[in-house]
Amino acid sequence: MNKIHIPVLLNETIDSLNITPDGFYIDCTLGDGGHSIEILNKLSEKGLLFSFDCDQNAIDFVKEYYKKELSQKKNWVIKKGNFKDIQTLLKDSDREPNGILMDLGISSRQIEESNQRGFSYIEENEPLDMRMDTNLNVTAKDLLNALSEKELALIFRKYGEERYSNLIAKHIKKNISNINTVGDLTRLIYKVMPAVSSNKNPSRRVFQALRIVVNDELNSLEIALDKSFEILQKDGRLSVISFHSLEDRIVKNYILEKQGSGKGEMLFNSHIAPTDDEKKHNPRSASAKLRTIVKK
Ligand SMILES: C[S@@+](CC[C@H](N)C(=O)[O-])C[C@H]1O[C@@H](n2cnc3c(N)ncnc32)[C@H](O)[C@@H]1O
Repeated sequence: MNKIHIPVLLNETIDSLNITPDGFYIDCTLGDGGHSIEILNKLSEKGLLFSFDCDQNAIDFVKEYYKKELSQKKNWVIKKGNFKDIQTLLKDSDREPNGILMDLGISSRQIEESNQRGFSYIEENEPLDMRMDTNLNVTAKDLLNALSEKELALIFRKYGEERYSNLIAKHIKKNISNINTVGDLTRLIYKVMPAVSSNKNPSRRVFQALRIVVNDELNSLEIALDKSFEILQKDGRLSVISFHSLEDRIVKNYILEKQGSGKGEMLFNSHIAPTDDEKKHNPRSASAKLRTIVKK
């Protein structure tokens, strides 16, 4: 087993939820359970924690890794599902949540132990799949096959903010019969992309765009924010950790809109970012932003 995912902004996130021991909390993005276990440890027997993830691998990992905790504490309920369906996932519970957490994107485990899903541009031999939930119908390879050059360029620009989206899309469609694995795509991008000074991988933006579309990430986020805020109890808190500007813009605008209409209040005046120390110990935290809204 590779290293466990290091929870990002852990103390700050737990503080933002203002946990009361008898309260009801929902972790919409279980991952390796780093935030969930911290919430659980703050709850009394009357407290309740629901944790969701749309990736069955994450659920299986946590059920095994936290076997002891799960057998001792009966107030931790883990369910597979997409957070946009939060209201359906909660249909058996008559309690209103005191706090809801979303830690967006993918975990280190999904990157490093992807089970042949090709989330990372480093895993050259993996297929271009990228589905967090393997019950979804469309893989990244399906998108490359089915979308036109124009449509591909549009998603690379819109969801990857990729400057060379037209050029990359053109070469993908020209070479589509030779693109099957992560390595096939990264090598092509490397070849066609003009030399850039950035030390970041040139495939990064295209991979982000494909992953967002395959998993319908931004629509799910918009739906989930609304449904989560709706079910929160008064003074309940919704905390969201985002990792790129597209996600963060949605979260920020949502919070500002609720604040503007007097339905919520933004905490921290804006957002919390990781300290230099956290970034040094966990480089994956570097772009994280934590935003919290309190329901009025
Ligand atoms: C950054 S990781 C969470 C890590 C976790 N907080 C921890 O400390 O271990 C994000 C997790 O959210 C899941 N996820 C992403 N989008 C989701 C969605 N729409 N519904 C449910 N789970 C989702 C991913 O499968 C992944 O396991």
